[in-house]
Amino acid sequence: MRQYQVAVIVGSLRRDSFNRKLASAMARLAPSDFSFKQVQIGDLPLYNQDDDANPAESVKRLKAEITAADGLLFVTAEYNRSIPGVLKNAIDHASRPYGQSAWSGKAAGVLGASIGAIGTSMAQQHLRNILAYLDVATLGQPEAFIHAKDGLFDEAGNIGESSKKFLQGWMDQYVAWVKKHAA
Ligand SMILES: Cc1cc2nc3c(=O)[nH]c(=O)nc-3n(C[C@H](O)[C@H](O)[C@H](O)COP(=O)(O)O)c2cc1C
Repeated sequence: MRQYQVAVIVGSLRRDSFNRKLASAMARLAPSDFSFKQVQIGDLPLYNQDDDANPAESVKRLKAEITAADGLLFVTAEYNRSIPGVLKNAIDHASRPYGQSAWSGKAAGVLGASIGAIGTSMAQQHLRNILAYLDVATLGQPEAFIHAKDGLFDEAGNIGESSKKFLQGWMDQYVAWVKKHAA
């Protein structure tokens, strides 16, 4: 059976990040032919175009992991009604040098959780804009703006009962989306 590798990019460096927990719990809703790996973005230098010809090891690693992936899963926090700078920094790194973007043609899903009632909707919209420019095909529906509140996760860190049906449906659509693009 063919295996599908997903690179997961979490838009938060916080130790107890809801979004990292969400990313881990979502991976457990996927079928056995999918495997998920969270890529590290916290050790990337600040993007500087002067370094394009001589990228840091962490930048090479990021680009290699994105290139090798069949699908991408962005799970992001919302900072000041947009995506966190750490996520934009990672996106910029893997988009360069010009003409050598690692993002082009990938299939992606976008998720996010926040303590605010609108659950990262603004950040996700900004992220979709960026990804469209980078020729990443993002799953449009269902949208998932997750309100991080009690019960989102159970004690084992799995998606709690109240959100399980919806997020399982999201994952099923995502799996079909990645397979369609890989075909
Ligand atoms: C700098 C900063 C800006 C924030 N801006 C927003 C915001 O615009 N919308 C929102 O819903 N929450 C906002 N928050 C609250 C985050 O939703 C909350 O910190 C959340 O836990 C971040 O996700 P994480 O748990 O994955 O780190 C902000 C938090 C910080 C630290």
